[in-house]
Amino acid sequence: MTCMADLKGKKVMVTGGAGFIGYHLCHKLSQLTGDLTIYDNLSSGKLENVKDNPKAKFVEGDILDTKKLCSQPKADLIYHLAAQVVVGYSMENPMVDFETNAKGTLCVLEKARKDDAKVVFASSAAVYGNPTVFPTPEEYGFHPFSCYGLSKVVGEEYCQMYREQYGLDIVITRFANVYGLRCHGVIHDFLDKIAKDPNKLVIIGTGMQTRDFVHVSDVMNALVTVGSEDRFNGQVYNLGIGKTTSIIELAKLILTILHLQDKTVVTTTGASWQGDVTKIWFDNSKARKELNWTPKVTLEESIKEVIAARKIVK
Ligand SMILES: NC(=O)c1ccc[n+]([C@@H]2O[C@H](COP(=O)([O-])OP(=O)(O)OC[C@H]3O[C@@H](n4cnc5c(N)ncnc54)[C@H](O)[C@@H]3O)[C@@H](O)[C@H]2O)c1
Repeated sequence: MTCMADLKGKKVMVTGGAGFIGYHLCHKLSQLTGDLTIYDNLSSGKLENVKDNPKAKFVEGDILDTKKLCSQPKADLIYHLAAQVVVGYSMENPMVDFETNAKGTLCVLEKARKDDAKVVFASSAAVYGNPTVFPTPEEYGFHPFSCYGLSKVVGEEYCQMYREQYGLDIVITRFANVYGLRCHGVIHDFLDKIAKDPNKLVIIGTGMQTRDFVHVSDVMNALVTVGSEDRFNGQVYNLGIGKTTSIIELAKLILTILHLQDKTVVTTTGASWQGDVTKIWFDNSKARKELNWTPKVTLEESIKEVIAARKIVK
């Protein structure tokens, strides 16, 4: 259960707070602490996400700029979300991906070491690569299939090293596919394509790839819980809904909601981008049990929410 009082008076920093998940996290944290800082270089984040969280202080800065990062006022808790998040980009630009996600995490850990701050690290399903165990539990271990996945593994390993060697309080959260208002990714891609031409929808890949879609509000509840309470320190949690949905099923669901199922012709390209994994399906029983976490929002409800917000009416 979330112990909200535990964040009262805490100085909280969110790296990547101008991004999709960061926006929602800062929105939630603004209600729980009066001392919230967003640290973001706006590389993929948006100023409107910052402006829509007016209670948070905004510092435009790069996590790789350790001088600037470490000169920020002392933090008690750092949610480290800033990252290069695109798998295909990581395969084409492994060095940039490594710099931001691996070295960048190290820079954030240095800030945390200086402040003796707790760190909640945003990791990813990508650390599992193409698992052979489903649903995949936390202890399945690291088998990354993309440079992005590998850079997240390195980030996690540094977190664990800082915990063991410097006694830093660390919680690692591995996200499945997070979606909701302001998100990027496949749901918005499909809606963009359909808005352009409702007669056709081209899916990149076979369409048989499956994903574990978890709503951002459910992820927020878990993030606040692990940040608030010390008993979760040192733990790793899968945050996914615990179901898997193929991309073709997702496309059909969207078309049905839009009443376009008989109009839109769905095709697939066959080939996907390098590093794309086949199936993500999380075992979330550890988070359910230890965090008393129950993800509630269904994919259908949320797609309707996104469609309504985009004012797509058919
Ligand atoms: N969205 C998902 O489905 C998903 C799944 C698994 C893991 N994650 C992880 O969750 C975190 C947030 O993802 P998101 O979907 O909100 O992505 P996002 O791209 O919307 O947010 C990332 C933020 O980090 C900022 N950033 C990037 N490089 C930076 C740097 N060098 N210095 C400072 N800021 C920098 C960007 O400007 C952006 O605001 C990431 O760590 C990502 O790897 C997301």
